[in-house]
Amino acid sequence: MKAAEAQTQVSDYWTRRAPAFDGVASHVAQAGLWRDVLATAFEAEGTKDVVDLGTGTGACALIAASLGHRVRGCDGSEGMLAAARQAAETSGLDVAFEHALIEEASFAPGSADIVTLRNVLWTLPDPMAALRKAHLTLRSGGLILVSDGLWSVAAQYRSTYSDGLAASLPRHDGLTEDDARAMLAEAGFGTARSWQHLFPASPYPGDVPMFVLTARKG
Ligand SMILES: C[S@@+](CC[C@H](N)C(=O)[O-])C[C@H]1O[C@@H](n2cnc3c(N)ncnc32)[C@H](O)[C@@H]1O
Repeated sequence: MKAAEAQTQVSDYWTRRAPAFDGVASHVAQAGLWRDVLATAFEAEGTKDVVDLGTGTGACALIAASLGHRVRGCDGSEGMLAAARQAAETSGLDVAFEHALIEEASFAPGSADIVTLRNVLWTLPDPMAALRKAHLTLRSGGLILVSDGLWSVAAQYRSTYSDGLAASLPRHDGLTEDDARAMLAEAGFGTARSWQHLFPASPYPGDVPMFVLTARKG
């Protein structure tokens, strides 16, 4: 399957899942824990410019906004973004959401202090292109935060993508921390630091190996 067709199918899948996503996503149920972990991992003093790539229903973006940062986010699925916009309105938080694929989003180069990608790399036809976009979007010294997991170990976290679509996503099984460290280095980031130990227990029932990594643009 060509990358463009895979991407269309991924976006359509998430638009179909959007109405129920916040009801099942463990990270939404555990927003308080994630807020604590992100607040520490950002290592930020004062208000920062944050960009959330593949923002989905805006869970990470809204946490960043609740921490006082100026936040923008993009997603390829209009359905997920509709839920994100609704959540922002309900919570009274200001986030500028853009309907765009990560690679095509309009964020100016060097316009962010922090870029986040949570549970996005596994579902991209070209995950390295997303990390390069994050690198481009960050200012010198800026911080990328990447979180994902080895979703193949637990049936309840598998996507219901068709076999053809799954086969065209290089990280469909998920990622280990070592995988992500290697990818961050390849994208030009400095040594990564891990933060998942801050969770009192795995945020994903089923003990999926997961990681929260940050690294800086030199
Ligand atoms: C598992 S959800 C994660 C959403 C959010 N980051 C979170 O932590 O809740 C994956 C999201 O990535 C989005 N996505 C997939 N490929 C994308 C791309 N190339 N550009 C932008 N968004 C993309 C999907 O539409 C979906 O909303």
